[in-house]
Amino acid sequence: MAGAKKDQSRGRFITFEGGEGSGKSTQIKTLAERLNGAELRTIVTREPGGSPGAEIIRHLLLSGMGKLLGPEAETLLFAAARDDHVHAVIEPALEQGIWVLCDRFFDSTRAYQGRLGKVEPAVLNAMQRVTIGDLKPDLTIILDVPVDIGMQRAAARRGDRAPDRFEAEDVKFHEGLRDAYRQIAVAEPQRCVLVDANAAPGVVAARVWTSVRDRFLSHDVSKVANLA
Ligand code: TYD
Repeated sequence: MAGAKKDQSRGRFITFEGGEGSGKSTQIKTLAERLNGAELRTIVTREPGGSPGAEIIRHLLLSGMGKLLGPEAETLLFAAARDDHVHAVIEPALEQGIWVLCDRFFDSTRAYQGRLGKVEPAVLNAMQRVTIGDLKPDLTIILDVPVDIGMQRAAARRGDRAPDRFEAEDVKFHEGLRDAYRQIAVAEPQRCVLVDANAAPGVVAARVWTSVRDRFLSHDVSKVANLA
């Protein structure tokens, strides 16, 4: 079964969550560099996607094809992608002691499909059981930015490209998303840290690093000394 074992040789599993334009990719890259610098082997992956099979499904989802099928079927596509990603990439890496930084994971399904798509919690729980079993992130960093700022950042990053399936949703959708993430952070304070991401990338990176260091590295003085 996925993720039942938790021993010290196992890698750590850290997920990043947040709305559009919250700066996840920049922050993940910075954290991966710091962890690799501390001689902790680290990979960066993403959802939907992250494995060859899941990347094919990603293409379908972001094209808007999933939306045509309705919220439940769209959720099934995210679940199918996650199943492949977990078994082909995440679990094998963690088993080998590699740290896995993942851009989005099941909290995205809970926020986007659950809260906004109104897919029932029972359906989401059943899918979660099948796709990830006992695997849970050791830490989830939720990057929180006001919706107008996030949408401006996403538009600037996009340039001339047309908005994808979720970028194209309206302000109300994105407000609901932010609220859903805040509720997840309140419901699971052990696993989740809500980081104020309305600041310069270096400032946010310092906040992220503090969360990671305090949780995993404070016992290992040599690694912290390398990085502080
Ligand atoms: P992506 O371009 O990776 O967006 P971002 O840079 O915001 O992470 O597109 C992924 C989109 O898929 C994003 O809008 C969130 C959505 N999504 C879900 O709706 N459910 C999920 O379970 C996941 C993993 C992503």
